[in-house]
Amino acid sequence: MCRLTLCLLLLVGVSVGVSVGVSMGVSVGAHLTPGTHHIQRRQAAPRGADISTSCLRCICEARQCDWQQGCQGGACGGYRITEPYFNHSNITTEVPLYGDRTFETCTVDPKCAITVVRLYMRALATDCDENGTIDCDDMMLTHYYGIEGCIGVRDYAEFTNDWARYSACIGSG
Ligand SMILES: *[C@@H]1O[C@H](CO)[C@@H](O)[C@H](O)[C@H]1NC(C)=O
Ligand SMILES: *[C@@H]1O[C@H](CO)[C@@H](O)[C@H](O)[C@H]1NC(C)=O
Ligand SMILES: *[C@@H]1O[C@H](CO)[C@@H](O)[C@H](O)[C@H]1NC(C)=O
Repeated sequence: MCRLTLCLLLLVGVSVGVSVGVSMGVSVGAHLTPGTHHIQRRQAAPRGADISTSCLRCICEARQCDWQQGCQGGACGGYRITEPYFNHSNITTEVPLYGDRTFETCTVDPKCAITVVRLYMRALATDCDENGTIDCDDMMLTHYYGIEGCIGVRDYAEFTNDWARYSACIGSG
């Protein structure tokens, strides 16, 4: 016989161990769909990291960092930010200075757009290549492929022109 609290602790210990073990092997789940896998994977794979200045610059360079083109095909400014990405950053509630900005007025303004990317990465940068660290390569992939879509695409992404520009930028410091 064991005391109630001790039994509970043992049960919790066992189930955490099992779910972490299981979710390490699981890679992709629908991010916006609440569900068991979603919760398990969140516990196992940490998200979010502060983005460096050089990383910010090179993610912009990946698509040539063109601020003149405005919004095209639903993607705006040098960072090609989309509306779901903008909304997900919570910039209008997180940063009083930008409280009255909209998707269109923020993302074409370099300072506002950079703040969106910073907030987004701080909370949502993903270990896309699943090697245990979140670095600028992961942020590049998170930015252009999404927090779910970036998982496992690195080998493919490395053959794109985006990656060649990003890589040249990061390599040159
Ligand atoms: C983003 O948020 C705005 C304001 O709440 C909303 O009108 C819009 O539909 C949202 N867009 C997306 C893609 O979720
Ligand atoms: C924005 O808020 C939502 C809802 O609270 C949260 O799920 C999301 O992680 C937040 N995004 C950032 C970038 O903090
Ligand atoms: C993870 O991969 C990155 C390249 O994206 C590499 O720089 C880093 O050293 C790797 N980390 C580990 C722990 O293997």
